[in-house]
Amino acid sequence: MSKIKLGMVGGGKGSFIGEVHRMAARLDDRYELVAGALSADAKTAEESALNLNLDKSRSYPSYETMAEVESSLESGIDVVAIVTPNHLHAKIAEIFLRRGIHVICDKPLTTNLDDAEYLASIVKESGLVFAVTYNYSGYPMVRQAREMIQNNDLGGIRAVQIEYAQDWLATGIENTGHKQALWRTNPEKAGMGGAIGDIGTHAFHLSEFVTGLRVRRLLADLDSFVPGRELDDNASILMEYTNGAKAMLWVSQIAAGKENGLKIRIYGSNAGLEWSQENPNFLKFSPLGESPRTLSRGGPSAGALAGNATRIPSGHPEGFIEGFANIYSDCADLIVAYKTSAKIESLVPAVNDGIRGMQFIETAVKSSKSGAAWLTFGS
Ligand SMILES: NC(=O)c1ccc[n+]([C@@H]2O[C@H](COP(=O)([O-])OP(=O)(O)OC[C@H]3O[C@@H](n4cnc5c(N)ncnc54)[C@H](O)[C@@H]3O)[C@@H](O)[C@H]2O)c1
Repeated sequence: MSKIKLGMVGGGKGSFIGEVHRMAARLDDRYELVAGALSADAKTAEESALNLNLDKSRSYPSYETMAEVESSLESGIDVVAIVTPNHLHAKIAEIFLRRGIHVICDKPLTTNLDDAEYLASIVKESGLVFAVTYNYSGYPMVRQAREMIQNNDLGGIRAVQIEYAQDWLATGIENTGHKQALWRTNPEKAGMGGAIGDIGTHAFHLSEFVTGLRVRRLLADLDSFVPGRELDDNASILMEYTNGAKAMLWVSQIAAGKENGLKIRIYGSNAGLEWSQENPNFLKFSPLGESPRTLSRGGPSAGALAGNATRIPSGHPEGFIEGFANIYSDCADLIVAYKTSAKIESLVPAVNDGIRGMQFIETAVKSSKSGAAWLTFGS
């Protein structure tokens, strides 16, 4: 099977996540980057394309031109990765979907729920593959946790503790012109969520992905600790799932000393599980009344989901890039299945997961504005 032809919007010189997407796409040799509108600045786009050895004729000054030209080429791109700031996701995705091109879009899906729902209707109409890179669901031991919960190894789920804490917005670096901080703290570009949109949506998705449960209501208390900042940089959120289980979610980008502290703990009637992103090859399993044990990626107790998401023997650490690459590989399976009209099961986060992320942001903001009231999810 020939490689899937990938295009990219955003991800030029000096940007962050585009390079990670490219590494993830390369890891299993299933994609080839052939086109891009890599930057908002035409000159930077051109220079970035040159650095990536893209054919000059396939480096575009705008995503509109890229969609138009690529869809007219016999061997134009099959899929586009959207790695721009949030406010452009929906617009760019629509243009490519309308031209028959699959989409891999970073999170959060859009800047508001209306746009997300509109985009979902276009995805549905198109029948194309649409993936949202909630990449933490690609880690083998996250998938192991999901499988163990599906197998009822924990019994009924009662309590979930999740935290996603960083410190890189602990000071007003947006005022120094820091590129990534500038748009993330601007509601016009980030949407109505600050930290809750940027990293809270990851934590929220992870909790539903691992537990298989759905949140039915939540209570949120959002803070903006750094003076002059319009969007939240810290949040304390309580959540209730449809089975009655309760969760506490702490999201922060002002937690001094925290780098990328994403951590989830899940407690059922028979056992508990703990996983931490900064030590991702291990999962702690604590059956009630027994000594806790550490399960390792690729070890004898790892199940099928973890095994399928693993490339090298345990003891050789895998991490962020490999987890991201699992989403890309699973997405490649979907694109191949689309070509042959085959129906396959997939773990790839889809547009509905993107919508839930937007509902999470909007409900949290409303709840906080109503004095931290419990609100029905998505109300
Ligand atoms: N999945 C993850 O773990 C993860 C991590 C970081 C960021 N993200 C998401 O990825 C997206 C990008 O974040 P980032 O930190 O890489 O941002 P960034 O500011 O580093 O990069 C954004 C890129 O988009 C380009 N861009 C802006 N407007 C454009 C246009 N009109 N046409 C073409 N390119 C344009 C910029 O020039 C830049 O290259 C955001 O939605 C963010 O939430 C996801």
